[in-house]
Amino acid sequence: MARRKEPTASENQDPGLSAEGEQAWVEVVRKMDETYEELVQQQVALEEKNSALEEAQRFIESVLGSMSDLLIVCDVAGRIKRVNPALEELVGRAATFLQDTEFHRLFAEPDQERLRTFPQVIRNDSVTDCEVRLVDAAGHWQPVAMNCTSRYDHRGRLVGMVLTARNVGELRRAYTELDQAHRELQETQHQLVQSEKMASLGRLIAGVAHELNNPISFLYGNVHVLRRYAGRLERYIRTLEEGADEEERLRLREELRIGELLEDLDPVLEGTLEGAQRVGDLVGELKGYSGGRRGSPETFNLSPVIRTASQWVQKGAGSIVSVDLDLAEELPVRGYSGQMHQVFVNLIQNAVDAVSEHRGSGGVTVVAARTGGEVRASIRDDGPGLEPDRIPELFEPFFTTKPPGQGTGLGLYIAYGIVSEHGGTLQAANRPEGGAELSLSLPLEGAV
Ligand SMILES: Nc1ncnc2c1ncn2[C@@H]1O[C@H](COP(=O)(O)OP(=O)(O)OP(=O)(O)O)[C@@H](O)[C@H]1O
Ligand SMILES: [Mg+2]
Repeated sequence: MARRKEPTASENQDPGLSAEGEQAWVEVVRKMDETYEELVQQQVALEEKNSALEEAQRFIESVLGSMSDLLIVCDVAGRIKRVNPALEELVGRAATFLQDTEFHRLFAEPDQERLRTFPQVIRNDSVTDCEVRLVDAAGHWQPVAMNCTSRYDHRGRLVGMVLTARNVGELRRAYTELDQAHRELQETQHQLVQSEKMASLGRLIAGVAHELNNPISFLYGNVHVLRRYAGRLERYIRTLEEGADEEERLRLREELRIGELLEDLDPVLEGTLEGAQRVGDLVGELKGYSGGRRGSPETFNLSPVIRTASQWVQKGAGSIVSVDLDLAEELPVRGYSGQMHQVFVNLIQNAVDAVSEHRGSGGVTVVAARTGGEVRASIRDDGPGLEPDRIPELFEPFFTTKPPGQGTGLGLYIAYGIVSEHGGTLQAANRPEGGAELSLSLPLEGAV
């Protein structure tokens, strides 16, 4: 703005004005100049304020524009004063169209009654997470979670309310899908537990069947022997009853090897009883699995247990492979002798199988002795040895290299479990001179 020029002395020379008049005139001009100066300053300040206001307005617009939540600002009567673009987009109507309309009309009819009370409610309270349904541009109801708070002017007077809402339709859909997925997962888990139970039951049955196999074949073998003995005795007695003379009797006794038969009768009956006892024990153990008692651990001598196990393998399978025993007399250990018997039957059976499958001669040696605070036993054979890569798998259930029907792959798995339960270790390795060696150690007990 251009400033007025100060009047010069020649300009002020008016022949009609007195000196006082001239002085008053100068004063008026000066005042006018001062006022003009003030006006200019006020205009500058106003322009600055205006530009600050415009900046604030742009800032608010940008904030409102980037809000994904819905915003409705109302007066005390619930008439819309302002909305944000997110709401305009959802309801499909421009802010100018919504201006001064009642906010509750944006919502589904069943919710309107409740919303109509909001202007009253917010006088004393606020509304939090209230679930209502907005009518969208297509006329569908969109569930929203809404908050409502009162709005005051700079003098603290209530001038309306601010509603913010979040569309929970997506959230609800996601929740429903999650819930469904969770249910399906639970169902699958339930099925898995069931099939795992069935698999455990299958393993248990297979394990018991595996362990029953040896005593049963041992019993079979003994019963066949007893039947043959019975036939020979019958023939001998009948001949005597028919009045055979002494010479005839002696000849027949020699032919039928009655002396050896009578000597063998006791051990065979003893073994048969032992086999029956083992079957009984296994059934007892099976009962133990189903919650019954399994008896308490006892201190026993491992030496006779190994000896009997070796006899079982040799007699039961009718094997021709020799099993040499080198056992210390007293090998006290604590636990269950029946289970240890099972371990040695499994290990010796494996060794015998390996040797008989292997073309060539050889046998099995079982050594057991006390070493330090332990009882150490090893089962060595002259078989083909173990495949080095597969040694880590040996103790896993169902690992077998035997043809179907000849091995379940449970022998070493069961043995490992039993030895571990007895506080011992079981390891497999190849011998430098060929063949395999299974080494077992158990804590030594004080006395038998
Ligand atoms: N002394 C051994 N020499 C060579 N291989 C052995 C020996 N002992 C075990 N194995 C190998 O380990 C595998 C697993 O043995 P394990 O006793 O667990 O099952 P299995 O003998 O095959 O079957 P099952 O014991 O049910 O009759 C055997 O198939 C065999 O390949
Ligand atoms: Mg085996």
